[in-house]
Amino acid sequence: MKKLLVTSALPYANGPIHIGHLVEYIQTDIWVRYWKLRGRDTIYICADDTHGTPIMLRAQDEQVEPEALIERMGEEHRRDFADFQVHFDNYYTTHSPENEQLSGEIYLALKEGGHISERSIEQAHCPQCRMFLPDRYVRGTCPKCGAEEQYGDACEVCSSTYNPRDLIDPYCATCGTQPDWKESVHLFFELDHFTDALRAWIGAGHVQDDIRKKLMEWFQDGLRAWDISRDAPYFGFEIPGQPDKYFYVWLDAPVGYMAATMDHCRRHGLDFDAYWRRDDESDVYHFIGKDIVYFHALFWPAMLMGSGFRTPTQLCVHGFLTVNHEKMSKSRGTFITARTYLDHLDPQYLRYYYASKLNPRVEDLDLSLEDFVQRVNADLVNKIANIPSRVLAILHRNCDGRLAHMDDEGRALFDQLRGKCDAVGALYEQRDYAQVARLIGELTGEINTYLQAHKPWQLVKEDTARAAVVCTAGLNAFRIIATLIAPILPEFADRVASMLEIDALTWAGLDDVLENRPVRPYERLVDRVDPKKITAMTEASRVTTDEQEEVEPPVMTLDGLVDCAFQTMRLLDASPIADTDKLLALTLEDGDAPRRIVAGLGHDALDRGIVGQNFLVLANLAPKKIRGNESHGMSLAGDAGDRPQPVFVPDRQSGEVVE
Ligand code: 2FM
Ligand code: ZN
Repeated sequence: MKKLLVTSALPYANGPIHIGHLVEYIQTDIWVRYWKLRGRDTIYICADDTHGTPIMLRAQDEQVEPEALIERMGEEHRRDFADFQVHFDNYYTTHSPENEQLSGEIYLALKEGGHISERSIEQAHCPQCRMFLPDRYVRGTCPKCGAEEQYGDACEVCSSTYNPRDLIDPYCATCGTQPDWKESVHLFFELDHFTDALRAWIGAGHVQDDIRKKLMEWFQDGLRAWDISRDAPYFGFEIPGQPDKYFYVWLDAPVGYMAATMDHCRRHGLDFDAYWRRDDESDVYHFIGKDIVYFHALFWPAMLMGSGFRTPTQLCVHGFLTVNHEKMSKSRGTFITARTYLDHLDPQYLRYYYASKLNPRVEDLDLSLEDFVQRVNADLVNKIANIPSRVLAILHRNCDGRLAHMDDEGRALFDQLRGKCDAVGALYEQRDYAQVARLIGELTGEINTYLQAHKPWQLVKEDTARAAVVCTAGLNAFRIIATLIAPILPEFADRVASMLEIDALTWAGLDDVLENRPVRPYERLVDRVDPKKITAMTEASRVTTDEQEEVEPPVMTLDGLVDCAFQTMRLLDASPIADTDKLLALTLEDGDAPRRIVAGLGHDALDRGIVGQNFLVLANLAPKKIRGNESHGMSLAGDAGDRPQPVFVPDRQSGEVVE
């Protein structure tokens, strides 16, 4: 079997690891541990993503050098991962000599191949901070809805997207100064040179089906050149032959996967090229969130193709975490950092809970805190950990702490479980851990049924030898369970191995039977979740006066609505506004003259049959020019998952005021 290189996305070095990140690291760690359990030559590689404006500015704020900041964050991240039993074969940094060398090499190869071009762009520049401002660092009033303090690329209130130049009264987010607009020459990677190669790569099954479909939509509009340079000052790598120009953080971030591999290979005498040049010798799997697919499915393979490296075997894309069905929130106390979690709860709970909900699809995962308590206590503590606890207690109290032999019935139980191991293995390979947990639960149920039928805790009073035979079967069957669950709960598995007095639980050892030998007394494997600790954890995570926190809207009375004239208007026509992906120009029926409204419903709303529907419109809003289009009112919409959904009124009541 080929060697295996597995990566998780590199976390930014400007913030702590939180339980949202951990979905991915736990998912990947389980997969890697599974392959290692099977004896496959596997390495798990990651690093801190250390470059870019946010890190540079945070270091300035803290009055430290960026190098000192990333060093400290790197240590914190390493500690958090280790405490969650996420084990990397190498956890490196993108700020490394290997990364500088490889990024430069890849860039020069792309340039040599004619895939890099130069063009001048206009960008906001703060005269006070003396730096070009990325879109997120320009703020101002939204040109569409008038909301103040919005980012330079999108409005969080009305969801419209725009250019920072369109902002009303723009200012530098750092110092508040009004920016200038300056031209600067940037370097672009001509992604469209790789259109056919990328289409073929994506079509060849390297991404999940849902992702492939989404990517194919992006091809329809043509692939745009990618701006890979940033002007000084910037914390990153200077571009070879381009003084004062730096690689954009997203160029050297994925190269960080290679650089971390290179460092690992150097320290262990391994061949780097076997991972990154010869795809017949190894597989490369990237685990990533759905928000960074564009980088990993387009830019990254194109960079590799254009510079003579191999492309990834597979992108394993997962969804986001919600807590109690909502986005993690500081004010609700559900934005929980890895450290705060660890201060209150056992990391095994989260590993088990996430595993029990993860599947290979690109779906969001909900951590419902009540369900978390219930599932961990019912399945992990009461069903699984209870078996060795009961059996070892009997063996130690009454049978000199020794196993007996297995009789035919015990052997049948053991064989029954052993026969299901390949099915569990296949589910691990497919990353269907929810089904792994379900199947392990079923198999555990079979042991419990066996124990319930033979009641060794009663039997021991009449026939100690017979009770030892029952316990021997129970414990051998449980060894299979502990082996199967080892990728999810590695410490649990290690402790079971030590109680059984064996070195480690391995797939190869699944056929071994333990008979007529001593076992150690039971050591606690996992405690029940105490709901009070959940409350303490959310309280410790709750931020009440954080200015970065979303502001809860104030309670209002009907007075505020008195001035609003809501009207129902039928949509006659809608067309996308060029150079935007959300804005539509709507033409609505409004008495004699049609009314025009600009709405940020997304261009794809047109495919969802909106024309002919009755829209609910705030009709007396002062007219406003948005992207050169006069908008006379606002169409009301709600949030439907990842897109806005206009409010439709079922029966046509055009012109009627509904207040
Ligand atoms: O989105 C992020 O958190 C990035 N730091 C991920 C980088 S992954 C890779 F490309 F380096
Ligand atoms: Zn400034």
